[in-house]
Amino acid sequence: MTGELSPIDKAKFVAAKRAAQYVESGMRVGLGTGSTAAWLVKCLGEMVQNEGLRIKGVPTSTRTAQLAREVGIEVISLDEAKWLDVTIDGADEFDRNLNLIKGGGGAHLQEKIVATASDQMIVIADVSKSVETLGAFPLPLEVIPFGWQTTKTIVEEALIGMDVMGRDVSLRMNGDRPFITDEGNHILDLHLNRIGNARQLSLVLNQIPGVVENGLFIDICDAVVIGYGDGRVEVRDINAGSVEESKFDFLENDNLFTDISD
Ligand code: 5RP
Repeated sequence: MTGELSPIDKAKFVAAKRAAQYVESGMRVGLGTGSTAAWLVKCLGEMVQNEGLRIKGVPTSTRTAQLAREVGIEVISLDEAKWLDVTIDGADEFDRNLNLIKGGGGAHLQEKIVATASDQMIVIADVSKSVETLGAFPLPLEVIPFGWQTTKTIVEEALIGMDVMGRDVSLRMNGDRPFITDEGNHILDLHLNRIGNARQLSLVLNQIPGVVENGLFIDICDAVVIGYGDGRVEVRDINAGSVEESKFDFLENDNLFTDISD
């Protein structure tokens, strides 16, 4: 399944493989978006096909929906599911309190709705996503296309009163056109460098007309599964206050990972 992977992909894969252990038959599972979440979807697809896992998946983007169907996961909408047992997703940054920046893939609106409608949100990430303070990664802000330049100006003015270290705001592009989200909106990327008060910033940004949702996930994530290129995995659970370590190892001949921690 893994083929010849780079260390970073190995890290994403082992994080996904460990997080897949949170999923049991009968669960309704939120499926995140991005390269790490794609590993999770593949792992779950393999469990559906080879281990008889029965789940219903709620994807957080059209990309993830397509991949989930391809690997054999039954896909339903959030309204059909109503509530989810667990959502597993990637992140662009996480801090020691498991607050996150998400939306590097432009899907944070659906991701936040789905994660909030879940008993548990598990983040899967390689260790490069771990930060002392959020903000080095540009904060994504989904805005409606109508009047977006005016919205951008108001966002820039609002940032003057915020505890941040940078205030540049750029429109996310897809080639020579504005990036369009699954909801038909634009993304403004806020280059803040350091966010002093993420909770306050999130509230202020979401009050601006034209802003649909920001990429700060505050008090939403329950645990982060951190993968390393050598197969080590660390699970930090904010509710239990625990840190658990395990290791996956390559099988020499077929290059598959196997869990050797049990
Ligand atoms: C998409 C996201 C992704 O989870 C985030 O960008 C991380 O992606 P990757 O796993 O590819 O690094 O928030 O909107």
